[in-house]
Amino acid sequence: MILVTGANGQIGQVLTKRLREIHGADNVLASDITKIEGYEEKFEFLDILNKIRMKEIIHDYDVTQIYHLAAILSANGEWNPKKTWNINMNGVLTMFSLAEEKKIDKIFLPSTIAVFGTTTPRINTPQHVPLMPETVYGMSKATCENWSNYFYNRYKLDIRSLRYPGIIGYQSLPGGGTTDYAVEIFYAALRGKAYTCFLKPDTRLPMMYMDDAIRATTEIMEADEKDIKIRTSYNLAAMSFTPAEITAEIQKHIPTFKVKYEPDFRQDIASSWTESIDDSHARADWNWSHKYDLEKMVKDMLENVRV
Ligand code: SER
Repeated sequence: MILVTGANGQIGQVLTKRLREIHGADNVLASDITKIEGYEEKFEFLDILNKIRMKEIIHDYDVTQIYHLAAILSANGEWNPKKTWNINMNGVLTMFSLAEEKKIDKIFLPSTIAVFGTTTPRINTPQHVPLMPETVYGMSKATCENWSNYFYNRYKLDIRSLRYPGIIGYQSLPGGGTTDYAVEIFYAALRGKAYTCFLKPDTRLPMMYMDDAIRATTEIMEADEKDIKIRTSYNLAAMSFTPAEITAEIQKHIPTFKVKYEPDFRQDIASSWTESIDDSHARADWNWSHKYDLEKMVKDMLENVRV
């Protein structure tokens, strides 16, 4: 059985569906702290801090692979830093320890561009760079990357990880991230409303379309173990744009669309991240290549977002 934690999240909803297409609906168990529509079958409530419950689920369902997506994101994490650290860090350590005990075959643990900080080179950020994140979310993910590497080296636990950029998709809504504006903007545009952006117009961030993010995830998990040479987390890239650039791209389809700018605390978070990512290791080691650029992504979003 494949277990997905955080299956209600932005990526979780889409990834669970894709894993069910690949492996069969009966072989993928969705879990989260609340239940949403679409998980009528094969769903368990799971708070990732509840070690006993996690252990029961892993043993009762004979779990062999885990996609551990449950986490609190960058912006929401700042409201309660200690709670965020507890969930993002101790949830992972609990899961790694149980996985080591049960000899789980493979684990996917997402990381993020939030591991980078103001001491990281901003343009074409290389794979191996100083990580001095400024959010508690980034701190927890950077630490998790090192724990992944440690559990791989010490216990041969096959943990694979990607540093996701901001993810944009029509299938689900993001929750509490700094890149959420790039999804929200489509809902305003399609409702014929002006959008108030919480980042400045020239804030360039690395982004990726959901289809590419899901494919990257399934591809790294299907790759030969010997090809996964980075056991902290792989840089992963597709496109980088600013709020002004995505607005201009949407205006090519909806010329009347307007955006105003009211930067809030999320601007500081975005400014501490890097602008573009060098993901050549992912491309060389397990053949990663993206399909969606800004133009293609905007067109697909405008065709598929339901308002
Ligand atoms: N999209 C995430 C966030 O903004 C980045 O990992 O928090």
